[in-house]
Amino acid sequence: MRLAIGADHAGFALKAQIIAHLRGLGHDVTDHGTLVAERCDYPDLAVAVAQAVASREAELGFLCCGTGQGMAMTANRVPGVRAAVCSDTFSARATRQHNDANVLCLGERVLGVGLAVELVDAFLSASFEGGRHAERVQKITALEPLGRSA
Ligand code: RB5
Repeated sequence: MRLAIGADHAGFALKAQIIAHLRGLGHDVTDHGTLVAERCDYPDLAVAVAQAVASREAELGFLCCGTGQGMAMTANRVPGVRAAVCSDTFSARATRQHNDANVLCLGERVLGVGLAVELVDAFLSASFEGGRHAERVQKITALEPLGRSA
């Protein structure tokens, strides 16, 4: 799959682990930075990954910061993006199946690397189930400024 990933300084180490894992599985991963561990602002990285997903340059995106929260808040401002913060595998799977989430946000200060990788795998291996869920996701899309979906 074509995947996009980004992190701020607080998610920098986790990003490197996830990139290695994803590339090891054969995915085409674009690293949107940050490329150095110095302090930076998470919205700058979140918007880069969100725009890659919204434009379909990437099929799915991953964002790492201290908690995942600021990344999700920012990414969800980009029309067509449905970003979810997950700390358990059930939610990581269900948010793909039910919400058609296309960006997974992870907190390096919350998760161990082992769990983070399991969350990534759960997210990647699940698919949107459509049906009644599609009507609900459409209601989310209708709230976006342009009312369009990615
Ligand atoms: C950085 O200190 C931290 O605030 C950031 O990585 C993130 O957790 C924000 O949501």
